[in-house]
Amino acid sequence: MGILDRFSLRGRIALVTAGAGPLFGSSISQALAEAGATVITASRSRDRNAQYAEELRQAGYDAHGMQVDLSDSASILRLRDELIERFGRLDVLVNSALARDGHAGRLEEQTPDTWMRSAAGDFAGLFQICQAFLPGMTAKGRGSIINISSIYGVVSNDPTIYEGTDMVQPPTYNFVKAGMINFTRYLACYYGKQGVRANCISPGGYFNHQPAPFVEQYCKRVPIGRMLGNDDIQGAVVFLASDASAYITGENLMVDGGWTSL
Ligand SMILES: NC(=O)c1ccc[n+]([C@@H]2O[C@H](COP(=O)([O-])OP(=O)(O)OC[C@H]3O[C@@H](n4cnc5c(N)ncnc54)[C@H](O)[C@@H]3O)[C@@H](O)[C@H]2O)c1
Repeated sequence: MGILDRFSLRGRIALVTAGAGPLFGSSISQALAEAGATVITASRSRDRNAQYAEELRQAGYDAHGMQVDLSDSASILRLRDELIERFGRLDVLVNSALARDGHAGRLEEQTPDTWMRSAAGDFAGLFQICQAFLPGMTAKGRGSIINISSIYGVVSNDPTIYEGTDMVQPPTYNFVKAGMINFTRYLACYYGKQGVRANCISPGGYFNHQPAPFVEQYCKRVPIGRMLGNDDIQGAVVFLASDASAYITGENLMVDGGWTSL
């Protein structure tokens, strides 16, 4: 098999949590679909996912919208059952959803309720969706799990880049993103011999019309000199999903323009 064929996802079934989201979600789903996968996107709104899947189908790809609330165990199992019934198996699981509403306020403002909401959506949700799909992957002897972490799972925020803005960086975010990276290594070590690989991608800040002082300070600090754009994560996702990365597991691939090299 030639190298380009090894990047192909033709015939693979891929699920992207929050895969219809306007930033990373849709960028990831589009990349997997372009590489040939059947893509299923799922988050709390079935309508939103169905609508996005329809857009991908109009563009000639194979995509389907489903529903999941990652803070609800029963909802995760329903998604698993529906997906397996319709498609027979799952080859690629991309965990991109983020319980953003739980990540509210700086340390002084956070409450047990906000910690628990981020824990339910991000910790419990991540464990349970992996738990739900792993047995099917190990039974088939093939699977690639890709967890979307962040530079802030590896290093702290640099408080100076937020100066002159009212942007708030909740510490629960760093907490869950760091946990995600080491959970990924656990998956890699326990399921590798059964054919399942697990890797993280840790992106830098996505340009989303943030306040001008932030964008300026971010771009000045990051070695590549700009924020992350719509297609910057796509190559990494296809690489880690495909056989091109067959011997890579437990890795945390920084897609950060060099942010963590400083
Ligand atoms: N935006 C950035 O600059 C950035 C940088 C680094 C990493 N990331 C990571 O990339 C991933 C995607 O981020 P984004 O900014 O594109 O997403 P986002 O914040 O726009 O969207 C998060 C998505 O998660 C979904 N979601 C929230 N709670 C859920 C639940 N209980 N069940 C199911 N779905 C739920 C939402 O519907 C939404 O689509 C996240 O994991 C984030 O931490 C983002």
